[in-house]
This record gives sequence, C-alpha cells and structure tokens, in this order.
Amino acid sequence: MRHLLTLLLLLATTAGAAGDPKLGKPLHDQQCVSCHVKQMGVDGSKIYTRSPRLVNDKKALRERVGICAKNTAAGWHPEEEEHVTAYLNQQYYKFK
Ligand code: HEC
Repeated sequence: MRHLLTLLLLLATTAGAAGDPKLGKPLHDQQCVSCHVKQMGVDGSKIYTRSPRLVNDKKALRERVGICAKNTAAGWHPEEEEHVTAYLNQQYYKFK
C-alpha cells in the first residue's frame, strides 16, 4: 500500500499536477488526525473549523501544513504537503 501510494505520488508529480485531495486524505488521516483529536476531541476536525482559527488564506494553510508536518516524523516531501493542503482546503477551508 505504501509503495502504491509512493508510485501514485511520483506519477502525480512528474505530470506536474498540483496537490490532489484524493492523495492527501490518506496521508492526513494517517499522520495528522490523532494529535488534533487530543487537542479538540471527537475526530479532531474542529481544529480546522474553530473560531478564531489560525489559518485564514491559502498561503497560511500551506505554511501551517508544512509546520505541522515537521512536528510529525512523517518526513514528507513538498508534494505530499501539497496534496494534504489540497485535501484540507477542499474538505474544510474552501479558499478560492
Ligand atoms: C504533535 C501534534 C500535532 C500533529 C502531529 C499535527 N498537528 Fe496540526 N496542529 C497542532 C496544534 C497544537 C495546532 C493548533 C496550534 C495553535 O492553536 O497555536 C494545530 C493546528 C493545525 C492547523 C491550523 C488550524 C487552524 O486554526 O486553522 C492545521 C491546518 C494543521 N494543524 C494541520 C496539520 C497537518 C496537515 C498535520 C499532519 C502533517 C498536523 N497538523 C499534525 C498539533 C499537531
């Protein structure tokens, strides 16, 4: 599964595609949710929809994903951070 994911990421990158929410969701669910659940309870998603929240535009979202990714041991590449950014934007933030 891990290898398949890596392959998909490689394909998406070489095709020059921007972040793909479908690739971001599994990455996010594996690496990001448990810590946010500790903060916010339930499924942790309230951290993205609370008011006031930290992130108020696309640039801040991309930066925050980078900062939080460094707090995990995920060792993500920039393109993986792009996919997760795209997923969070599609699912929660909905910035244009
Ligand atoms: C070690 C715990 C931890 C992990 C792991 C973690 N986060 Fe976070 N995250 C936090 C905390 C704590 C905050 C709130 C920071 C604050 O309020 O100052 C936060 C806030 C955020 C926010 C901003 C929410 C807002 O207010 O708009 C985003 C986006 C986010 N995290 C994304 C991620 C992503 C993507 C990952 C996986 C790579 C991740 N986080 C992994 C602890 C974590």
